Amino acid sequence: MPSFRERSLAVFPAGSNGEFNLPAELAMVIARGEGCELWDTEGKRYLDFSMGWGSVLVGHGRPEVVEAVRVQAPLGANFAYINENALAVAEEVVRLSPASERVRFCASGTEATMYCMRLARAFTGRRKILKFEGAYHGANDVGVTSLFPPTKEAGRLLDFPTPDPSSAGVAHAVEDHVLVAPYNDLVTTAAIIARYAAELAAVIVEPLHRCLPPVAGFLAGLKEACREHGALLIFDEVVTGFRLAYGGAQAYYGVVPDLVAYGKALGGGYPIGMFGGRGEIMDIVREDRMGEPNYVWTASTLGGNPISTAAARAALQVFKGDGTYERLHALGRYLRDGLARVLASRQEAGQVLGDGPLAQVAFTREPVRSYRDMRGANRERQRALMLALFERGIFLNPMGTKLYLSLAHDEAVCDAFLDRMDDALASLP
Ligand SMILES: Cc1ncc(COP(=O)(O)O)c(C=O)c1O
Repeated sequence: MPSFRERSLAVFPAGSNGEFNLPAELAMVIARGEGCELWDTEGKRYLDFSMGWGSVLVGHGRPEVVEAVRVQAPLGANFAYINENALAVAEEVVRLSPASERVRFCASGTEATMYCMRLARAFTGRRKILKFEGAYHGANDVGVTSLFPPTKEAGRLLDFPTPDPSSAGVAHAVEDHVLVAPYNDLVTTAAIIARYAAELAAVIVEPLHRCLPPVAGFLAGLKEACREHGALLIFDEVVTGFRLAYGGAQAYYGVVPDLVAYGKALGGGYPIGMFGGRGEIMDIVREDRMGEPNYVWTASTLGGNPISTAAARAALQVFKGDGTYERLHALGRYLRDGLARVLASRQEAGQVLGDGPLAQVAFTREPVRSYRDMRGANRERQRALMLALFERGIFLNPMGTKLYLSLAHDEAVCDAFLDRMDDALASLP
């Protein structure tokens, strides 16, 4: 009888559903999760530091979320129409998100950022989108373009080296309309915005760029440059939303964008995406405006379904509870301090990045403020560490490299991680 692992390797490319790149001998199939733990089909236990790529901030099997889904399940899975749960979630997001006067649901972060960019193009009548080096905004064409590179455009302007390809199959027409700037470099970014002002629809930014915090004034400066040149500012809050603060990065950094994309944590682990923004921008999706020159098509069969939004409603209640963000931030600090201690005790040339309940190790002593700086880090060592941790029962995404904490984690779980990290580092050549 073939094992679960063999069956998985037979039907999924590389035995994975995307972005994992585990060697075949580490491929496994998950049987169940609880809190911040997972068990595979062989009964091996893992401490989860991926948490569904951050979508399960509440923790696996969080009782309030389970109960909300249990109540909703017999009442219908999808109507492709506004329902009570969707309405309650939308009202709460409009209340907590300074950027969102109106919102619409979709089913993933990929869709949410795609709609924000489409809205920006339609609203401004311009075509180009500026993103930052190394930024991932979902699997849509712009989202993956220049994931590893600077583009041709930026290359000409800034004399950047030739880009690495990020994904084959992206329409060239899309690549031609993407500009790439160095994160945390406001002078260069503002110069690109000014240079392309007539064509620039929007700047899309993950306010905490992967695990790299914005330097003081960077986000406010972006907003100002966008305002000056008539481009919109889009915050991709798929990761930061409900994670850095209840009001997301908008509240945490005190900068309000024109449009915002949500996903991940909002759904309590269930499929969700949402985009919102200023009323005058959002209203160009109104179907009674179909036929007008800037009308924008949006539709998502599963967007706002009552199961996902029941989970979201429960998740929002959890997030709103006393001390949630103090706890997430304290835990993040605890893990990051511990990581730095372990690196130092092993005399590793490394440092720890992140904010809130997020952490990442970068094997370089040079200051890291942008993706470009990250390219100077020792990526082979980073991957070797991630795989050594995986072997030691830490579930994480060895390609993603970001560690996600959740409300189910505690200091003892972080200590267990740090012990295994120490052991993993000792095993590396
Ligand atoms: C910053 C950011 N934006 C968008 C996405 C896409 O979200 P999804 O995988 O739900 O489509 C991701 C996913 O990892 C992300 O990290």
